[in-house]
Amino acid sequence: MNKIARRMVSIQPFHVMALLARARELEAAGRSIIHMEIGEPDFVTPQPVIAAGIQALQQGRTHYTPATGLAELRERISAWYLERYGAAVDARRILVTPGASAALQLVMAVLVDPGDRVLMADPGYPCNRNFVYLLNGEPHGIPVDASTGYQPGCAAVRTAWTDQVSALLVASPSNPTGTLLSERDIRCLFDVARARGGCLVVDEIYHGLTYAGAAGTALSVSDDIFVINSFSKYFGMTGWRLGWVVAPQEYVSQLDKLAQNLFLAAPTVSQYAALAAFDSENLAILEARRQEFHKRRDYLLPALRDLGFVIPVTPDGAFYLYADCSRFTGDSFRFAERLLEEAGVAITPGIDFGIHQPERHVRFAYTTSLENLREGVRRLQDFLAGGA
Ligand SMILES: Cc1ncc(COP(=O)(O)O)c(C=O)c1O
Repeated sequence: MNKIARRMVSIQPFHVMALLARARELEAAGRSIIHMEIGEPDFVTPQPVIAAGIQALQQGRTHYTPATGLAELRERISAWYLERYGAAVDARRILVTPGASAALQLVMAVLVDPGDRVLMADPGYPCNRNFVYLLNGEPHGIPVDASTGYQPGCAAVRTAWTDQVSALLVASPSNPTGTLLSERDIRCLFDVARARGGCLVVDEIYHGLTYAGAAGTALSVSDDIFVINSFSKYFGMTGWRLGWVVAPQEYVSQLDKLAQNLFLAAPTVSQYAALAAFDSENLAILEARRQEFHKRRDYLLPALRDLGFVIPVTPDGAFYLYADCSRFTGDSFRFAERLLEEAGVAITPGIDFGIHQPERHVRFAYTTSLENLREGVRRLQDFLAGGA
């Protein structure tokens, strides 16, 4: 067999992809499937952004931009921090990237030496551990549960922070749990990281999609925190592949150097289109969508609890509910498979998010209409009544 690098053994595919493929097969055969596994908004990109993208193409904006991104867009993002959060962020600290995915890879690459550890929540966003494996580092999951709102608590982080650790990576709101870190939590995590000579990276990709008031940015806590964000989720632009990182000043040239080599630049058309993302007309559309997600959350959360799923902490952000299904099964993967085959409902099994009790958890995404969610719950009810 031809050579394959050893690190590839550590890198797992998304298990939900197998379920998604099966769901598509069933749909092709005429079955109706309710999709509650999909991690992106069901809404298409708002019209003002699409129009700006078309205009950019017609104006011939088809060349590379600087590796750090279009200067106007960096300025616009900087203004956004002031408008939204009252935080003054120098545009020179903002690098525009091909999605939060690229931002995370850049940041990990400037922080992680071979053998270094990166602390992260388990359950957490599956790609994070793979970014660390790619650098021959060691992702270290901190098991999280309801007692700390499914976020790494300060005490656990302090205990896990050995000399091998170079960074802590958290997401607020979190994928898969939808729970947030308070400003106090972030301050405490930052203090621990700083005391140990390491870095704190906060992924704010689900900012804007919160349902109990707006979340504060970690940049209000310190300029020495790496903050990741994206146009994918709140702005509804997943396919445009555009995100950004705000870095401490002394890291900017390192990140720039790496971005030049790895990506050259983020997609140009997407960057021009994103300039329209912050216009009031667009923000009004996004606010209506946020309210729709809020309605869906308020429907689905009690409905799942009534069915017997345990969701002890109310998730106030993103579009996910991470539910304990141990009342029905000891094997959440099998449960998800059967739910799909027998009831036509697709969900994501816990195994995609880590090794801390994945077999007793599943993730529901409310990235489909209220009508579909109601139908999904009806099917779930019948499935469970049939002795799941
Ligand atoms: C927590 C988290 N971070 C980062 C990403 C990557 O997003 P993108 O590369 O589309 O900006 C995702 C996507 O699902 C996510 O859930």
